[in-house]
Amino acid sequence: MLIFRSEIRGTRVVEIDELVARGARGPAGRPVLFLRDAGEAEVALHSPVFDRGRLARSFGGNGILFSDGAHWKERRRIIQPAFPPREPDFHLQDVTWAVPGLVSRFAAAAESDESVGVVEETVRFTTRVLYRGVFGQDLPSDHDRVGVILDFFDSIGGVLSSTIFPRLRLDGRTMAEVRRAAEAMEEEVNRLVEVRRNSDFTSDRVDALGEIVEALDAKDDVRGIHDEVRSLLVAGAETTSNTLGFLLLMLAGHPEVGDRLHEEIVAAPDGDSPFMDAVIFETLRLFPPVWFQTREALESIEIGETPLEKDDLVFVATALIHRDPAIWEEPDAFRPERFLPGPDGPWRPPHRYAFFPFGGGRHLCIGRHLAMHELQRSIRALAGRFRFEIESDVEVAAELGVVLKPARDVRVRVFERGGDRP
Ligand code: HEM
Repeated sequence: MLIFRSEIRGTRVVEIDELVARGARGPAGRPVLFLRDAGEAEVALHSPVFDRGRLARSFGGNGILFSDGAHWKERRRIIQPAFPPREPDFHLQDVTWAVPGLVSRFAAAAESDESVGVVEETVRFTTRVLYRGVFGQDLPSDHDRVGVILDFFDSIGGVLSSTIFPRLRLDGRTMAEVRRAAEAMEEEVNRLVEVRRNSDFTSDRVDALGEIVEALDAKDDVRGIHDEVRSLLVAGAETTSNTLGFLLLMLAGHPEVGDRLHEEIVAAPDGDSPFMDAVIFETLRLFPPVWFQTREALESIEIGETPLEKDDLVFVATALIHRDPAIWEEPDAFRPERFLPGPDGPWRPPHRYAFFPFGGGRHLCIGRHLAMHELQRSIRALAGRFRFEIESDVEVAAELGVVLKPARDVRVRVFERGGDRP
């Protein structure tokens, strides 16, 4: 499958630097401006002069993740009740339901001395949470949807990359793979929607797919339903899994951090875990799953010193801003301590857009509370019980598509720590 593979040197995702240095081009051939300054990011994410643009829609469909304007507003209005902003714990029960399945797979690996596929297992977990909490249906803990979903993610990542980064070309064989992945995904989305339509899933809570099906069936908008399911899958399954995956790799490479995390979890199994949150934030800083956000100028505008014409594309380069040496001391070091509360209270970013893994402005991530619960609960369970080592014969690598993720073949070995469990 066509996807950019990148060596990770220390924490540095080498290919990001190379892609940025070579530059990117929009569909009309005009150069894309990378925004690497927190102030410029704020302008692009908040100004009405920018919207998500046609490029994103052409490969991702017109669902909530890629649309804008009146269409996006209508879809957000339909989906928002399934993510009530004043109830951050709304999906907590879906997460606690799925965690034991994740743990049992790691425990089985530890016992049998097998390694686990980082991407495969983390996506298996986040897919179960998503299907239950957002699509209103259950999947078993050893479900087989992972391959279809990952192939689909890789294929849209490949199409996007080949459009904007001139170094890549899609050959006939790859296009056939992209088509096959899209067909398999179409089948899965059809199945998912049919199950939800005919479901006797009894829950006192609304789920996003239930809301979507009700609103769009009334308009006979089957395509709209598909766009939303694909949007929610891309937004909700791969992002959190990638953070969890990179975090496990960081723990494997920094055993002292794993030990400190384990101590904190065992000492206060149900209490606050400031160090755990710091480890999550540091992972999101170094490896933001949404490593750039595309925006298109709706009219001419100047940003920084650069004049843009209508239809020009900018990439809000989260991955670069998160390592800006003017903001971050030793930007490439994995140092969770930088996020710990200080004598003056909780950690505060020097600029609202110095650290923004969940985006900002009107498109601020709708699933951020769900994501944080998934990360906190899974890490508490995994790091409280196991330690990890990277499988020695596999190079630690990343892949770059719509999202930044650990390479699919990266595996870790899992060891029971023994002693008390949280
Ligand atoms: C670590 C995990 C996650 C990260 C880093 C993340 C990051 C982001 C970012 C940066 C955006 C803004 C995109 C833009 O401005 O174009 C976004 C939007 C979105 N996210 Fe997340 N996300 C995560 C998890 C989730 C989860 C679990 C869901 C649940 C379904 C979700 C659903 C969405 C949706 C629907 C949008 C579009 C919101 C809109 O435009 O109205 N995300 N996310």
